[in-house]
Amino acid sequence: LLVPVILSGGSGTRLWPLSREQYPKQLLPLIDEDSLFQATVRRLDGLDDIAVQPPIIVSNEEYRFVIAEQLRLMHKQGTIILEPCGRNTAPALSIAALAAMDNDSDPVLLVMPSDHVMTDIPAFQASVRKGMPLAADGLMVTFGIQPDAPETGYGYIQHGSMLDESGAFQIIRFVEKPDAAIAQQYLEAGNYLWNSGMFMMRASVWLSAIAACRRDMLEACRSAWQQGSIDGDFRRLDKTAFTGCPGDSIDYAVMEQLSAGQLDLPSGAIVPLSAGWSDVGAWDALWRTLPKDGAGNVMRGDVLLHDCRETLAISENRLVACIGTDNLVIIETSDAVLVVHQSKTQEVKKIVDKLKQQA
Ligand code: GDD
Ligand code: MG
Repeated sequence: LLVPVILSGGSGTRLWPLSREQYPKQLLPLIDEDSLFQATVRRLDGLDDIAVQPPIIVSNEEYRFVIAEQLRLMHKQGTIILEPCGRNTAPALSIAALAAMDNDSDPVLLVMPSDHVMTDIPAFQASVRKGMPLAADGLMVTFGIQPDAPETGYGYIQHGSMLDESGAFQIIRFVEKPDAAIAQQYLEAGNYLWNSGMFMMRASVWLSAIAACRRDMLEACRSAWQQGSIDGDFRRLDKTAFTGCPGDSIDYAVMEQLSAGQLDLPSGAIVPLSAGWSDVGAWDALWRTLPKDGAGNVMRGDVLLHDCRETLAISENRLVACIGTDNLVIIETSDAVLVVHQSKTQEVKKIVDKLKQQA
């Protein structure tokens, strides 16, 4: 059995002001009429040959109605687990693994972030099929993307020799979000792939890995799950126990330790993924993903451009007019307007941090 685990509790701060704490990027229809979350759920259609089950969705209390409504609109089902606060992805996955072990013996989990775009779904599904027997055998499977830039927002995985004829490789090491100089070295070395952020492993394999790396986290998650409650379609975690859980990502808490060669950790494998993947992390990434006019502009809503190049302009309420802009992002909403150079879109987070301090 394959149980998808959709992580959907992030707040997507670099896509402010469209993405808000109350309504984050994964729930917005950024690319087409589906939200990124809905596109993630739909990406699983057609995997019945490997017994794909309804997903476990781990999200935040704040997003419960939107998540439930977006699922309902697609006529899809799933278990919705609500976190009272964000503790990053390692606790979210630990909770999902505990939930999966409750329902079933020990299924393979397919961990899916909900902030990705993929254009070639058959290629994505082919990689998942390749990963399935490896994960069933007890490996922690990652999915690697051929890098084409020294991105610092991704994990890098150094691959070793081929594991089998399916085209999967051994993992030599995993480095989460290296600095620019190191990312450049990895790009030039040629034997590093980007970590896609998707993983595949048996629930028990994750639980033993987190027990080896962060027993404190596992214990907090176990109490939060066991003392949690059921409310209609929702499963709630115990607030006190989960709030007390330390926060960390899957990548830092476990994946980087794989390479450190911790003795009691399961081994890793990397399956290449070539599916037109991108992480819609910041405005420049969204601009790259969307169809453009002849001058490289992307316009949404009431927008007029004259003599502009590579400009992304989104208007929700008012007319936005630009003249002679190059590589600019302009986002207009009812209560905020953002103007940022394409090269600085990672720093939108800093504005959001400032706003939080003022609040
Ligand atoms: N439930 C829950 N709770 N989900 C969360 C939480 C949380 O506290 N924090 C983040 N998520 C969700 C986000 O909504 C997103 O869908 C997913 O988990 C990944 O989190 P990000 O915060 O977007 O991670 P990242 O993009 O910085 O890094 C990860 O993805 C990269 C590729 O996109 C890492 O795995 C990198 O190694 C990887 O390259
Ligand atoms: Mg991300």
